[in-house]
Amino acid sequence: MLSYRHAFHAGNFADVLKHSVWLHTLSYLQQKDKPLRIIDTHAGAGGYHFGGHQPIRNREYDNGIGQLWQKADLPPLLATYVKAVQAFNAEQTLAHYPGSPLLAQALLRPQDRLFLHELHSTDCRLLRDAIGKDPRVKIIEEDGFQGLQALLPPPDRRGLVLIDPSYEIKSDYQHLVRQVISAHQRFATGTYLIWYPVVLRQRIDEMERALQKSGIRNIQLFEFGIAPDHPDYGMSASGMIVINPPWTLWAEMEAALPYLADQLAKPGEGHYRQVQVVPE
Ligand SMILES: C[S@@+](CC[C@H](N)C(=O)[O-])C[C@H]1O[C@@H](n2cnc3c(N)ncnc32)[C@H](O)[C@@H]1O
Repeated sequence: MLSYRHAFHAGNFADVLKHSVWLHTLSYLQQKDKPLRIIDTHAGAGGYHFGGHQPIRNREYDNGIGQLWQKADLPPLLATYVKAVQAFNAEQTLAHYPGSPLLAQALLRPQDRLFLHELHSTDCRLLRDAIGKDPRVKIIEEDGFQGLQALLPPPDRRGLVLIDPSYEIKSDYQHLVRQVISAHQRFATGTYLIWYPVVLRQRIDEMERALQKSGIRNIQLFEFGIAPDHPDYGMSASGMIVINPPWTLWAEMEAALPYLADQLAKPGEGHYRQVQVVPE
């Protein structure tokens, strides 16, 4: 039973981090002409309309994209992200928010292929509507982890994977690590982006330790939070674990993470981490 709907969270502080890393990494990999296989294992509804028919319960985007929308001093990685979101909004008003599928579709070249998995039937229907007819994109209403294994390695051995589950049950964290190890065995040179929420810090510590023991090399982690860790608070922080990151990402994040922790948290409550989990 899937109860998570990304429409409630679209554009929040976690999406800012996830989508700015997603865009930077995708653009970096497109510097080479070879076809790129892009896989989103948990795609969501594709795009979101603020104030429209989709329920935006808590206006989480107010403390995410909403804060950055009009800023003139954004670090480059965030400026690129905000510009990409602005392209979906004809007016100066923030009305539409593109999820990971629409952000990727906007960057696709004729030779690239985008594979989107979404298990929730309603979100999958919304995703089909959002993407429209596009022969470069395939939408698959199946388990994203199974789909991922079936798509690796890509024929041209160039690939980018976003793993963005909803972490509805505790075992999702361990399941994710097993699936990442298996995907990496099929395709060790791919770039993998793994999003995680910090709800219970212990789960993230365990995930990091499991990845350190996995034998996978070249893993970096980027995280920022808007409140101190607290088991009763809900999501206080979120992060991206990146396997085989673009070499440019580290310096970009050195500028972006302190900015985000400063701008999106209450004074004195923001924090961030930038860690080489496993060296090259
Ligand atoms: C965090 S949302 C995705 C947001 C999207 N990646 C974005 O950034 O715009 C997670 C999505 O995964 C879907 N989902 C949950 N379990 C899944 C599974 N096993 N395979 C594919 N999708 C799944 C949920 O229905 C939900 O829409």
